[in-house]
Amino acid sequence: MSIKEVLRMGDAHLLRRAEEVLSFDTLELHALLADMRDTMRALDGVGLSAPQIGVNQRVVIFGVQHNPRYPDAEPVPQTVLLNPVIVPLGNDTADDWEGCLSVPGMRGLVPRFKTIRYRGCDEKGALIDRTVSGFHARVVQHECDHLDGILYPMRMRDLRQFGFSDVLFPDGKVPEE
Ligand code: NI
Repeated sequence: MSIKEVLRMGDAHLLRRAEEVLSFDTLELHALLADMRDTMRALDGVGLSAPQIGVNQRVVIFGVQHNPRYPDAEPVPQTVLLNPVIVPLGNDTADDWEGCLSVPGMRGLVPRFKTIRYRGCDEKGALIDRTVSGFHARVVQHECDHLDGILYPMRMRDLRQFGFSDVLFPDGKVPEE
């Protein structure tokens, strides 16, 4: 498959509500997922949504092994998630730094629910139903926001905590989603 161009903030395609996936296990869906995996890997991201490569469907992928650049982040299983629904468990939120492949070179401090239950299905239509917290919960909330046309700066409370990665973190990096 191939590495696709990732749309960047300012492109109106990133601001749409994506459409539900109606057919599973199709050649078209497998091809889309292969492109998304290739693109995410090439850019060293931890997650990617279909709208970021210009495909207006409710499809996200994410996952991270132990990342030496981000040693405190627990591993997140490699996941394909279609038509996701997120339910926050409790109202507790936490602030942490996020990046996004559609906002390259920048980082911002973003509040997210600490614990969520998310449901959806994989590329074959099998149900996924997980309760997660911490970094896993953050990644899912970030990726699913893309399906509703929301980029992380739109979730920020204080734009003073938004800046260039190499200025904010001269010694290290935070993964991009
Ligand atoms: Ni993103």
